[in-house]
Amino acid sequence: MEVKTSLLDNMIGVGDMVLLEPLNEDSFIVNLRNRFDHNEIYTYIGSVVISMNPYRSLPIYTPQKVEEYRNRNFYELSPHIYALADEAYRSLRDQDKDQCILITGESGAGKTEASKLVMSYVAAVCGKGQEVNKVKEQLLQSNPVLEAFGNAKTMRNDNSSRFGKYMDIEFDFKGDPLGGVISNYLLEKSRVCKQPRGERNFHIFYQLLSGASDDTLMKLKLDRDFSKYNYLSLDSANVNGLDDAASFRTVRNAMQIVGFMEAEVQSVLELVAAVLKLGNIEFKPESRVNGFDESRVKDKNDLKEMCELLGIEQSVLERAFSYRTVEAKMEKMSTTLNVAQAYYARDALAKNLYSRLFSWLVTRINESIKAQAKTRHKVMGVLDIYGFEIFEDNSFEQFIINYCNEKLQQIFIELTLREEQEEYIREDIEWTNIEYFNNAIICDLIENNQNGILAMLDEECLRPGTVTDDTFLDKLNTICAEHQHFESRLNKNSKFLTDHSLPHSCFRIQHYAGKVLYRVEGFVDKNNDLLYRDLSQAMYKATHSLMRQLFPEGNPAKVNLKRPPTAGFQFKASVGVLMKNLQTKNPNYIRCIKPNDKKVAHIFTDSLVCHQVRYLGLVENVRVRRAGYAFRQPYESCLERYKMLCKKTWPHWRGPARDGVEVLLTDCSVPTEEFAYGRSKIFIRNPRTLFTLEERRRACLEDLATLIQKIYRGWKSRTHFLLLKKSQVVVAAWYRRYAQQNKYQKIKSATLVMQSFVRGWKARNILRQLKYEKRCKEAVTTIAAYWHGTQARRELRRLKEEARRKHAVAIIWAYWLGLQVRREYRKFFRANAGKKIYDFTIQRIMQKYFLGLKTTTMSPMDNTWPAKPYGFLEGAHTQLRRIFHLWRCKKYRGQFTEEKKAVYEEKLEASEIFKDKKALYPSSVSQPFKGDYLEIQKNPKYQKLNSAMEEKVLLADLVNKINRANGKGSPRLFLLTKSNFVLADQKTGQVKASVPLPDLASVSVSTQSDGFFALKLKEGSASASKGDFLLSSEHLIEIITKLHRIGTTAADRDQINIDISDEFLVQFKQDKVCVKFIQGGPKNGNSAACKRKNNRLLEVSVPSP
Ligand SMILES: Nc1ncnc2c1ncn2[C@@H]1O[C@H](COP(=O)(O)OP(=O)(O)O)[C@@H](O)[C@H]1O
Ligand SMILES: [Mg+2]
Repeated sequence: MEVKTSLLDNMIGVGDMVLLEPLNEDSFIVNLRNRFDHNEIYTYIGSVVISMNPYRSLPIYTPQKVEEYRNRNFYELSPHIYALADEAYRSLRDQDKDQCILITGESGAGKTEASKLVMSYVAAVCGKGQEVNKVKEQLLQSNPVLEAFGNAKTMRNDNSSRFGKYMDIEFDFKGDPLGGVISNYLLEKSRVCKQPRGERNFHIFYQLLSGASDDTLMKLKLDRDFSKYNYLSLDSANVNGLDDAASFRTVRNAMQIVGFMEAEVQSVLELVAAVLKLGNIEFKPESRVNGFDESRVKDKNDLKEMCELLGIEQSVLERAFSYRTVEAKMEKMSTTLNVAQAYYARDALAKNLYSRLFSWLVTRINESIKAQAKTRHKVMGVLDIYGFEIFEDNSFEQFIINYCNEKLQQIFIELTLREEQEEYIREDIEWTNIEYFNNAIICDLIENNQNGILAMLDEECLRPGTVTDDTFLDKLNTICAEHQHFESRLNKNSKFLTDHSLPHSCFRIQHYAGKVLYRVEGFVDKNNDLLYRDLSQAMYKATHSLMRQLFPEGNPAKVNLKRPPTAGFQFKASVGVLMKNLQTKNPNYIRCIKPNDKKVAHIFTDSLVCHQVRYLGLVENVRVRRAGYAFRQPYESCLERYKMLCKKTWPHWRGPARDGVEVLLTDCSVPTEEFAYGRSKIFIRNPRTLFTLEERRRACLEDLATLIQKIYRGWKSRTHFLLLKKSQVVVAAWYRRYAQQNKYQKIKSATLVMQSFVRGWKARNILRQLKYEKRCKEAVTTIAAYWHGTQARRELRRLKEEARRKHAVAIIWAYWLGLQVRREYRKFFRANAGKKIYDFTIQRIMQKYFLGLKTTTMSPMDNTWPAKPYGFLEGAHTQLRRIFHLWRCKKYRGQFTEEKKAVYEEKLEASEIFKDKKALYPSSVSQPFKGDYLEIQKNPKYQKLNSAMEEKVLLADLVNKINRANGKGSPRLFLLTKSNFVLADQKTGQVKASVPLPDLASVSVSTQSDGFFALKLKEGSASASKGDFLLSSEHLIEIITKLHRIGTTAADRDQINIDISDEFLVQFKQDKVCVKFIQGGPKNGNSAACKRKNNRLLEVSVPSP
């Protein structure tokens, strides 16, 4: 259920003054103050919103707040300006009623801020979309532009609007904004030339100088320094909390959003600059022949720059400041201007230029924001007009402003009362008129067409002859003397004759908001608002794009001799139009109140507020509102709020709400004169009655709350209990199950144990029984087997015996039969079959035998040969083996080259000589016979030796020559040719001995594996004188073989004998020495060693193989 609050709930003080009790000025102020102290700046009087200026930003304008107030009833939430805006917007959208929002109050009371809040609220809640958002943005951004040009700092307000503004926002049937129209009222243009002490000129001048870029300023021929300009007051040029430079950027941006072209912005700024320049033009007197003074421009620099800015011919303007052309009845006369007149003309020009520029801006903005569609639209007007002003020195402007405020008050009174009255009529309630102060009489004093002050001022202005402010005052004194709101020293009314607070040059008006003293000085001039035609014509001639539009009367083609309407007349007319406009709309009031004069937060000056409350007639407003009935409410909401006070309407009333309220009020015994039944609303006369109802409601609410609480607690506990109970059952069930499961498991396992024991015992019994039975059976079987075995063996023996006997009989029989048959057939068999079988068998055997020989290889080294298969093949088998071997040897030999053949022949010869005769031989078989081991041809060491040799060297080797004296060997080179052998020194290569081979008788070697050999020479030969040679060589076999071979091949020589024995004699010179070979022990190493035993014996010990 939606919780609805109401104005009547939780309020600080009372939110609606109508409910104030008791109602008097003091309680009114106390309530305002109380709320103000608690940051509640808004309070209602019925549907009127009173707004106190907080002078600080409060967190009550957030988007959340907007949402909170959106589509809510006016009295539903605490008072707020949004509630009023929402109400106005919704009745515009839903009920098709044009609205106006009238914001009134003194200068600085917060009117402009309030108008902006209303606009921003409406913008936030109305439709969305690209086009709509653009319109909204333009409407909102028109504010900063107008504020820059139309607002200024005054004593009362740092951002005081110096013009009146009425803005119509237009909506389509859906409530989407279409556009708007702004009307402006009387800009306080005197401010352009002169500002009261402590005040400033319009913001734009300061913003331009502080915020524009250097470049822009240069183009505008301006200087940043404020003090350079006569029109800018210096004492308050900089205002706390105002950032002129930032504001300038905001304004430029806003202008762009609103739709100003860049060139337009530039033109506007040029005009602003021109006004500043204009203020700097000064004049000096120049005497003329006729004795009059004529003014001349003092320093022409500013004039020149201004003319350049506006595109005016300097001489034309200069002349316009010195002469004035007067036209009368087709005649033109030129009169000179004195210095004072020149200054007057200058200021008039500046003021006109600025105020026309301002009006142009409004027109231009309107052009941008005007609704495009021509469809019928609904309008919400927001009026933010300058507030009532009382200064020390009040002039024509204040007079006009206050007049406007009088008119607004008038319309307020009229509309409030009318609305109130209309409501009673609408609701069919009896209405008795009440008294209030009607300010119509003051309005009449000012605007009456015959003898109103404005009418008389106009009359004075138009009157021929000398007209001064004093003549105007005289006139006032005569005509308005009787008026009870007019006061003057020269009045016939004697009571003011001695009133010294009233100077002679002033008059005083008792406005609804207080008495204001006006100084008449300037009234006539300001009302005339004269600009010399020479000046307007000069302006019209300017080439600047805006000037022609601003000064249309300067067009020489349209010279109009009629006077233009006076300022007062114009203002009265526009106010009249405005009032008419407002009257057609549904008014919504915001009454702004200023809490203090210091523009600061938290201060509430009772006297000041009291004064405002008084002149705004707020208490009266409450009274009027309460005169009939203080409180009214639709039946539905009334019933909803108080239904608990009566049993019949609680908790629901079925039937019309009005009947319900009737029942309710009767039941509550409210006196019948205290309320009246309207068509849709109940009207309650006295707030006290309402409060009683409220009081009872509160008490009742407490009871109800207790009741609800009681029921709720009961319900809660019950639910909780039931839940507990349910849970307990579940828990118990689970627990029981668990316990039973456990118990069952235990019994089951116990049973199993017992069962297994019993089964075991039983099984063992059976097993024992079975084993016994089995053993018995086995015993029986064994016995049976043995018995059967004996039987069988006996039988077998008998059968064998029988069979043997049968077999013997059969064999004997067969032999006998065979004998018989052979005897019978012998003669046939031998003659034929025997031979054939025999041949065939032999053939098969041979075939198989030959095929078996195929496995042997071709290598002569291969000794393998298949075993003989049959005895009868023995001879052939050996022969075949031999033949095959010879054949494959022949094949093998056939592949040899000649050299290889020679080598093999040598090897063969060696074999013939040594095989099985000398133990060294087998080791030599695998060594190839190299012959030249010294490489005598190639080795340069033996070059000499080589050249000494006449024949080809067949063998060259290093040998040891054994010395007879000690048996030790000394190395020698051994060379063998076809005809001799040579021994040479190993180092020098010098030939030691050369022996022709024919001189060699024999060679002796041992049977063992040593390398010793003796070369024995023929006795009596030439070489024999040196004695035999005992040598040893590693290549003994090769050397001896080569020697033997040479012997066999040479035809002229005997064969060389080779003795192989372990003991031989060697002839050393005279003696014969015996060389004996013995098997030595291992201590000798592995080479044979020779040792001299005695004179006749050398012993060579050869290591055993
Ligand atoms: N609702 C508000 N919240 C905060 N400050 C406000 C509010 N209303 C007014 N003010 C302050 O008071 C100053 C004067 O308000 P303004 O609307 O310009 O006065 P008026 O238009 O009535 O002369 C503002 O500049 C602002 O500082
Ligand atoms: Mg304002």
